[in-house]
Amino acid sequence: MKFNYPEGATPLEGDELDALLPKHITLQSELNEWEHMNILEAEKWGFGQRHADILSLEFIQLLHRKMFSETWRWAGKFRTTLKNIGVMPYEISQELVKLCADVEEQMKHGIIPFDEIAARLHHRLVWIHPFPNGNGRHARIYTDVFLVNHQRPKFTWGQGNLVAPTQTRKAYINALKEADRHNFEPLFDFVRQTN
Ligand SMILES: Nc1ncnc2c1ncn2[C@@H]1O[C@H](COP(=O)(O)OP(=O)(O)O)[C@@H](O)[C@H]1O
Ligand SMILES: [Mg+2]
Repeated sequence: MKFNYPEGATPLEGDELDALLPKHITLQSELNEWEHMNILEAEKWGFGQRHADILSLEFIQLLHRKMFSETWRWAGKFRTTLKNIGVMPYEISQELVKLCADVEEQMKHGIIPFDEIAARLHHRLVWIHPFPNGNGRHARIYTDVFLVNHQRPKFTWGQGNLVAPTQTRKAYINALKEADRHNFEPLFDFVRQTN
C-alpha cells in the first residue's frame, strides 16, 4: 500500500503499518474512510456526555483508543519509537502528567483566557506527540472535548478541512510551528475564527 502524507504528517514505521486491523483495506482512500467512521463514533462518545477526568493520562489514552480501536492495534498506546517531532518515548507519560497539572493550575488562577489555555494545551499535546499516529486528530478532538466540558463552544480550527493538504492545513501547521517558537498569536487567531 502506498501512503501519501499531507505536510506536517508523521510517516508510519513498518511495524506500525503491520498493525492495521482491517486486513481488507488496500487503498489510502479506504483507510481514510475507515478511520473517519471510527472517529465519528468516538466523537459521539466524547461529546455525548460530561467527563470528570479529562486532564489525566487515562482520558488522553482512552480518547485515542476510542478513535482508532477498529483501525490500529496500537490505538490508545503510547509510541515507542522516535519521530521527527515529539519528546523521547520514555518521557511521554511524565510530560503529559506535567501538562495536565499545569492546565489545572492555569484554570485555578483564572489569569489566562480559557481559549488560550485550550490552544496552548492543544499545542503542547501535539508537541509531546504521544501516539504513533493520529496525534493531530486526537489533540483537536481532545481540545474540543475539554472546551465543551467547560461550557465553551468547540474551536472552528480555521474554516476548512484540516486532514487534507489544504491552505487551511498549511495555516494550522504554520501556527503550530510559530507556537513551537513561543509565538502563540497565530494559533490563537487560527483556532477560533468568527466568519
Ligand atoms: N511543528 C509542529 N509543532 C507542533 N505540532 C505539529 C508540528 N507539525 C505537525 N504537528 C502536529 O502533528 C500532527 C501530525 O501528526 P500525526 O500523528 O500524523 O497526526 P494525524 O495522523 O492526526 O495527522 C499535525 O496534525 C499537527 O497537529
Ligand atoms: Mg498521521
